[in-house]
Amino acid sequence: MDIFQKLREERGPLGKWASYAHGYFMFPKLEGEIGPRMKFQGEEKIVWSVNNYLGLANHPEIRKVDAEAAKEWGLATPMGARMMTGETKYHEQLERELADFVKKEEVMLLNFGYQGIMSVIDALLDRHDVVVYDKDNHACIYDGIRMQLCKRLPFEHNDIQSFEKQMEKAQVLAEKSGGGILVITEGVFGMRGEQGILKEIVALKDRFNFRLLVDDAHGFGTQGETGYGTGEEQGCQDGIDLYFSTFAKSMASIGAFVGGEKDVIEYLRYNVRSQIFAKSLPMPLVIGAMKRLEMLRTNPEHKANLWKNVNMLQKGLVENGFDIGKTNACVTPVYMDGTVAEATVLVRDMRENYNIFCSLVIYPVIPKGMILLRLIPTAVHTEEEINITIEAFKEVAVKLKSGVYKKMAESITV
Ligand SMILES: Cc1ncc(COP(=O)(O)O)c(C=O)c1O
Repeated sequence: MDIFQKLREERGPLGKWASYAHGYFMFPKLEGEIGPRMKFQGEEKIVWSVNNYLGLANHPEIRKVDAEAAKEWGLATPMGARMMTGETKYHEQLERELADFVKKEEVMLLNFGYQGIMSVIDALLDRHDVVVYDKDNHACIYDGIRMQLCKRLPFEHNDIQSFEKQMEKAQVLAEKSGGGILVITEGVFGMRGEQGILKEIVALKDRFNFRLLVDDAHGFGTQGETGYGTGEEQGCQDGIDLYFSTFAKSMASIGAFVGGEKDVIEYLRYNVRSQIFAKSLPMPLVIGAMKRLEMLRTNPEHKANLWKNVNMLQKGLVENGFDIGKTNACVTPVYMDGTVAEATVLVRDMRENYNIFCSLVIYPVIPKGMILLRLIPTAVHTEEEINITIEAFKEVAVKLKSGVYKKMAESITV
């Protein structure tokens, strides 16, 4: 069989929607400056799909520092991997500042969240080890786990009994193989907005011998009194052995980091393959990340505004009968009854007739048979935008219930 022929016939779980969805539901082009109002197909929409939690993407001070750093350094500096020719005092300074902020002994920068955490997981494990992980973990964690021939024991999402059961099995397996146990979960699950059960997992360290890696992509900057994440929020940051986050959300940039004990981070510096064999993070991103971190630390009003908007949006949706599941973070899912085809008609109606842009999430990003519209409130949304959105949701929900979308969806074939 010709591999390309196979690809032509089997487009993949998301690719099979491409002819219907490309450019609209998938790969849409949002234009204009990042913010709560952007243009889609030439018209202004209220946007709920960008993880610009703190509104830093377009903050004038951030834009100024980004521009000045680009002017001073360009995108090339430093050239080479950090181990070879790409080390600078600025990279080291950013790592120290991040370590102080997230209360870890040492931090290592990663060029990207996805490749970074994959590679960290790869470096931590070998075939003797056992990995115990939440079934709803992000794709990057799954891909990291797939890189090693270790034993894999998934537990039901946020289910402490299922976790304990898998830990009992993991203990037996690790004793037999002479390996260790790594537990991986998330601070905030990015699709459904639920915080991971970090505190409960950490409490079981008395009973089981394991190390805990937490991906806090959606918690960093949004959770905790001072904003250093879900470990702070739940009062268990010390029990998180390796704390990971990306710059792609609250920090509105590119890059990521992992923090932990000095020894372990030093090991990672010499063993994380996606960093050893890849060019160092360009200087404007490093300087820009320092500025963002400073704003996270010293401008708490951004987080306060974010939560004011989160609470207003979530309260408004619940009061109007919407199911937002068990979110206890900023991510606001709205669960609907209906087929995927109906949901696409609804989203189109929302965009064309109410000027609301939100994302439709389907399998395999979430489990089969479930449809959700995901809203990401930010610090820079206004009360008016929240009210307009809730009113729009009320109207489309009536149409969905009355079967209007079902009729329109009949012509959709995938
Ligand atoms: C939970 C989680 N981990 C990791 C990543 C990947 O981060 P990056 O965009 O920096 O590659 C994401 C981004 O979508 C995420 O949501």
